[in-house]
Amino acid sequence: MKFTGAGFTMFYEDRGEGIPLLLIHGYPLNCQMWQPQLEDLSDIARVIAPDLRGHGDSSSVPGAYSMELLAKDCAALLDYVGISQPIIICGLSMGGYVAMAFFRMYPSKLKGLILASTRAGADSPEVRSQRSKVVNQIPKEGIQPIASSMSQKLLAPMNYLKNPTLVTKIKSMIEMTSMEGIRGAQLGMMDRFDSHATLKQIEIPTLVIHGHEDQIVPLSEAEEMKAEMKYSKLVIISHAGHLPNLEQPAIFNQAVREYLMGLLNDQKKSAEL
Ligand code: MLT
Repeated sequence: MKFTGAGFTMFYEDRGEGIPLLLIHGYPLNCQMWQPQLEDLSDIARVIAPDLRGHGDSSSVPGAYSMELLAKDCAALLDYVGISQPIIICGLSMGGYVAMAFFRMYPSKLKGLILASTRAGADSPEVRSQRSKVVNQIPKEGIQPIASSMSQKLLAPMNYLKNPTLVTKIKSMIEMTSMEGIRGAQLGMMDRFDSHATLKQIEIPTLVIHGHEDQIVPLSEAEEMKAEMKYSKLVIISHAGHLPNLEQPAIFNQAVREYLMGLLNDQKKSAEL
C-alpha cells in the first residue's frame, strides 16, 4: 500500500485487526524484514510496517534523515491509516532509534515499546567517522560493498554459514535501498541524540529483545537499556545475531505475543475497575 502525505511515496504493509503494532525496520533494510511478524502476529494485532524514506519501495528522498524526521513520517502514516488510539512500536536497531525519538515527540501516542537489537547511546567519534566514509563511498562504489559486508555482520556467524536463503534475502533487501537512503540514514544516525535520559522517562511497559550473538550492538547495551527503564523486561535470544526476528522468528514472535497479551490483560483489568 502507498501513502503520499509525508511529501514522498511511503510504501507500507497493514495487516490484521486489534491493538496497533507499528514495526520500524533497521538500516539498510525495509519492511520485508518483518515478514514473519506480519504473518504471525496479525491474528492479535493490527500490524503496520512502513518502508522508511529512501528504503525498500518508498521513494528515494535527498537530505539527512534525522530520527525525528523518520518518527514524524511514521506519525503521519498512522494518521493516514486512521489510528488515533495509543499504539505499540517495535523498532529494530535504527528503528529503535526512531522509536525513542517517537517517544520524545509523541509520548501520549504510545502504549508500549519494544526495543530490539538497539542502543540508547549516541555515536562515538570513531563510528561517526565510519559513517562519513560510507556517505563518501556510496556514490563511487554503489550498494554492493555494503550488501556484502552488512549481510555478514547482521547475522550470527552460524546463521550466515548455514542459512544461505536468509543471506540472499537480506542482500536483496539491502540492494533495494537507494543511495539517497543510505546517505540520509547515515547522516541522520550520526547526529542522533543520546537517549539514556529518554529511557529514564519511559513509564509504559517496555520489552527489550536482543540476539545473544549480535555483532553490531553488544548485549551489554541491551542490559543497560533494560536497567534504565522502569517497567521493562529483557529477552535474550540464543543462536541469533542482529536480526533475531528473522534468525529465530518463532522465539521472537512468542516474546512479542506474550508482551502484547500482557498489555491487553492490563487494559481489560483497568476497564473492569
Ligand atoms: C541498523 O541495523 O539499523 C544499523 O546497524 C544501526 C546503526 O548503524 O547504528
